[in-house]
Amino acid sequence: MNENHRGNDRVKISLQGVSKVFLPTSKRSKPVLALNGVNGEVYEQEIVGLLGPSGCGKTTLLNLIAGFDRQTEGEIIVAGRRVQRPGPDRMVVFQFPALFAWLTVWANIVFGPRERGEDPREYEPRARELLESVGLKGREHDYPYHLSGGMKQRVQLARALLNRPEVLLMDEPFGALDSQTRSQMQELLLNVWGLYHPTILLVTHDAEEALFLCHRIYVMGRRGGIRETMEVPFPFPREFDLIGSTEFAQLKYNLLRALRAEEARPAHDD
Ligand SMILES: Nc1ncnc2c1ncn2[C@@H]1O[C@H](COP(=O)(O)OP(=O)(O)OP(=O)(O)O)[C@@H](O)[C@H]1O
Ligand SMILES: [Mg+2]
Repeated sequence: MNENHRGNDRVKISLQGVSKVFLPTSKRSKPVLALNGVNGEVYEQEIVGLLGPSGCGKTTLLNLIAGFDRQTEGEIIVAGRRVQRPGPDRMVVFQFPALFAWLTVWANIVFGPRERGEDPREYEPRARELLESVGLKGREHDYPYHLSGGMKQRVQLARALLNRPEVLLMDEPFGALDSQTRSQMQELLLNVWGLYHPTILLVTHDAEEALFLCHRIYVMGRRGGIRETMEVPFPFPREFDLIGSTEFAQLKYNLLRALRAEEARPAHDD
């Protein structure tokens, strides 16, 4: 497998002319064009970053792919199927982990397959392996209120992956963590990717995070369209020291410049 770019050429997420208009919520408000003809794809085993100014429609796009809402126009295909509703084939990792407070770490992780009545002999060994790969071995019996923010994010990640999703949708997953924990979680995500090669669409507002983690980055414009695609050429596995390299600094500069250009562009320009 060519890990420098992406696993293979199978398209996992296909976005075809996706638009979303939110209808006015009161007599005084106007409709909001949150997404405007978004085209793009995420290939199998690829980590794609979604960056753009606040309010450009990143979360809206993720919600549509997750099936939480319906687009006004266009098609969203995940693993060959048109998205109609939420499903375990598309797992979402939120910024603020939505764990069940009354369930232990273990029960949170195995929640999906247990609810669906799957065979524990199949999912329990995998759950134990995942628990270990996210560094939570020994914490199985803790409850979410025993855990730090970073640990909760680890539980969320293990729980999502146990469902063997076609794609993992992450919305600023490390945005609420302090910089040290954030950096650890980024490395953890790369390790987990190295083990399971999940296909990931990652929303972030952090250029460095996107460059460190992603194979490819989509830069969105203020009016909800993809304005630019950046290939990130660094080979995997990636180590922390990559961030200190000249090549990384140059790409970060290019990306920040593209983002600034989008932020400065008048909203009606798209
Ligand atoms: N349910 C909704 N009803 C009406 N308008 C909405 C709704 N959800 C989002 N919007 C609007 O759609 C636009 C895009 O919002 P979205 O949350 O997708 O942006 P974002 O790129 O995720 O921003 P941020 O970086 O701040 O998280 C915004 O103008 C927002 O106000
Ligand atoms: Mg958002």
